[in-house]
Amino acid sequence: MAKVAFTYEIPEIAEKILLNEGFDVWVNREDRTLTHEEIIKLAKNNDALITLLSDKIDEEVIKAGKGKLKVISNYAVGYNNIDVDAAKEAGIYVTNTPGVLSDATADLAWALLFAVARKIVESDKFVREGKFVGWRPKLFLGYDIKGKTLGIIGMGRIGKEMAKRAKGFEMNVLYYKRNKLSEIEEKELGVKYATLEELIKNSDYISLHTPLTDETYHLLDEKEFSMMKPNTIIINTARGPVINEKVLIKYLKEGKIAGAGLDVYEEEPKVPQELIELDNVVLTPHTGSATYETRDNMAKMVAENVISALKGEVPPNNVY
Ligand code: DGY
Repeated sequence: MAKVAFTYEIPEIAEKILLNEGFDVWVNREDRTLTHEEIIKLAKNNDALITLLSDKIDEEVIKAGKGKLKVISNYAVGYNNIDVDAAKEAGIYVTNTPGVLSDATADLAWALLFAVARKIVESDKFVREGKFVGWRPKLFLGYDIKGKTLGIIGMGRIGKEMAKRAKGFEMNVLYYKRNKLSEIEEKELGVKYATLEELIKNSDYISLHTPLTDETYHLLDEKEFSMMKPNTIIINTARGPVINEKVLIKYLKEGKIAGAGLDVYEEEPKVPQELIELDNVVLTPHTGSATYETRDNMAKMVAENVISALKGEVPPNNVY
């Protein structure tokens, strides 16, 4: 009987599907990330591993799994936690969950954009603290959204959902991507291609939707921040290290940009105290895909990828 291990509990539909297929399923039921040693042991003794983005699946894990392990099914669309080259060399499939989380992630990016632009979190705190004593002409002034320029960095599935939602606000949408979209798609989405520099210099809102790769590491660094307008609001629901967090904090502190909505951080789950102390940021704990429906759909996908790999097929969401 093939053995499948979950490094952490995910919606139980995944387990049900796999048990139904007759697999021997083990789930880490503790509310903690397994240690590297524990993951190595699982890799050695299982045919399939279901992992989270917080599990570091490096060369050592892959080596341990070589020969027995057939697939690493990551419960995320991103897979920067996995050494894909090593897995490929070892003949182990690596799968992800693309598509099903694009809407939820774009929705959260928009929620952060609104929350920062209209100071929702600060206002909520103000009311709860009993400080609301009457309408004031300059109380919690924020920024318009309609008609402004939104710069989308990374125009994959999630970036496109972000763009579609901008139509309702009649925004001017610029995008930056390695490969330009076709003119037809640009027209459908209502977006214009820009270089990174053009996008940064002209955007009121900048939303990141790139995977984390060597190329996108610190894509927004000192040089890029220095070109931003003082009213720029940055939204990051992609991966923390795409932004140089220290530089972001410096620009926020000095009021050189207007604010940031962050769902991801450079050294998750660590969030710098300086960010926590800033009023012009809204922080969420990497919950871009966190809706009941989306997480269930992701769970079904990881199970389907495992089933297909254990049948000897190339799984539908193999990343290489
Ligand atoms: C992902 O899937 O990569 C998100 O960051 C979490 O759902």
